[in-house]
Amino acid sequence: MIRAAIIGTGFFAPENVVTNDDLAQIIDTSDKWITERSGIKERRWLAMGEDGRTVLNGAEMGAKAAERAIANAGIENSDIDQVIFATLNPDVAFPGNGVFIEELLGLNTAGAMDIRNQCTGFVYGLAAADGFIRAGTAKTVLVIGGEIQSTALDKSDRGRDMSVLFGDGAGAVVVQAKEGDQGVIASVLHSQGRYARDLWLEGPVATMEGRIDSAMIDEGRHFPKMNGQIVFKHATRRFCESINEVLEKGGFTPEDIDLMVPHQANQRITDAVGQRLGLKPEQVFSNIAKYGNTTAATIPIALAEAVEEGRLKKGDLLVTVAFGSGFTWGANLVRW
Ligand code: COA
Repeated sequence: MIRAAIIGTGFFAPENVVTNDDLAQIIDTSDKWITERSGIKERRWLAMGEDGRTVLNGAEMGAKAAERAIANAGIENSDIDQVIFATLNPDVAFPGNGVFIEELLGLNTAGAMDIRNQCTGFVYGLAAADGFIRAGTAKTVLVIGGEIQSTALDKSDRGRDMSVLFGDGAGAVVVQAKEGDQGVIASVLHSQGRYARDLWLEGPVATMEGRIDSAMIDEGRHFPKMNGQIVFKHATRRFCESINEVLEKGGFTPEDIDLMVPHQANQRITDAVGQRLGLKPEQVFSNIAKYGNTTAATIPIALAEAVEEGRLKKGDLLVTVAFGSGFTWGANLVRW
């Protein structure tokens, strides 16, 4: 049986570390508040160059993560026939970041597709890669999650509930058609648009001539907004539901999981999910303390770190799970 096997992982985290204490210098917040509410101690925010732009763009960060994943997989760039780039923050309004990866890595006209599913982007991207491979549309797919959050955040006291949570970074996996047990066993994907406005970035809007005006800017509607408590409640419930659903599809139970790599939204969410499913600490991966929430990038960054730390071994049963703006949520069940 042909399966979509993850054969390589890589990540890129910008050098510039921003600690909770650094944030407390510019926003009315504290290390204690951020640590207790989210588990985050520091995050990476791309440094600014003299031209007033970040020193790297999102596609360049994605390409760095991808180069590491390609080297880790032991393949050549020319082996890739499809790119899937998940981000809620493309570098420009259009085209999406996928085509810039084609250019940066010299992929010789490989297909490029962008996924706009925010924190759930990587889970949707891996499911799409699995679909392409099973259908015979592609043999080797590069799935990247990458985000620049730092330039979109409201770094005044008004935006402190959001700005302390998010970071920049990119992660990538190489997914390849393989005979055997290794690979994606099942995925589940969900959404509920009635909650779209509980976690969104409204402007610029397509329906307005010029897309944005000074009133929107004055009201801060060009910054992301979140109803934190609603997101927290739904995230915890949907994480658990989708893990159980994807396990059931594969004929497994929570105790069969070797490693759960959840979207790194909040340590309290991860802990609540682990507790509800009766998972042991060694079954759960967390690196949110170091990077914060890098939306579509959290899972591929975590996968690359889990591999480096020897926490994922051949034959292990892996569950990736995410929830985010949309609301969207889902999970992948993978034999490593
Ligand atoms: N520093 C200090 N105080 C802050 C703060 C900050 N960065 N952000 C908000 N506060 C204040 C609020 O203004 C509020 O003050 P008040 O009681 O005087 O009005 C107080 O802290 C409590 O705010 P509340 O919103 O009730 O906090 P909370 O316990 O819900 O925690 C979140 C806030 C955002 C950490 C929490 O709701 C959460 O984690 N939600 C999910 C977020 C998430 O995972 N998003 C991504 C999903 S993909």
